Amino acid sequence: MEQSLVLIKPDAVQRGLAGTIISRFERQGLKVVAMKMLHLDKALAQRHYAIHWDKPFFNDLVKFITSSPIIAIIFEGDRAIETVRQTMGATDPAKAKSGTIRGDFGLNIQHNLVHGSDSSETAKKEISLFFTPEEIFDY
Ligand code: RTP
Ligand code: MG
Repeated sequence: MEQSLVLIKPDAVQRGLAGTIISRFERQGLKVVAMKMLHLDKALAQRHYAIHWDKPFFNDLVKFITSSPIIAIIFEGDRAIETVRQTMGATDPAKAKSGTIRGDFGLNIQHNLVHGSDSSETAKKEISLFFTPEEIFDY
């Protein structure tokens, strides 16, 4: 079993797409084992996206992800990391296939609705940034 950290980003929460997005992952057999709504502060946003600190879009990315509340979820399942990435679609909604979350609902590369861990190493790091072990359910 694998776990992946998913963030339902500010644009998705504002547009009322949280339920639809959670449902898409659940339909792939992924199980919610932790979930919380939070308004990210700048420090946590910078840590979460630390790998991109030197990219030209870093400041805009941090500003956007801290602009209004998000929903953080841990999904668990077989090959959860790859399944989450495939269900999300490509980073740029213009390039994401129809049938994926970003392909069907994403507006542009910033307003792309959802984050998902990109490897088992980053999944572990990201999960520990957002959740304590007591907040993760085993059922
Ligand atoms: P995420 O981390 O949010 O799940 O997205 P991702 O893996 O598909 O894409 P990544 O390369 O990690 O980029 C993180 C977020 O930065 C924004 N971005 N903007 N303007 C640009 O060229 C650009 N490139 C990336 C996107 O919002 C992306 O989700
Ligand atoms: Mg990424």
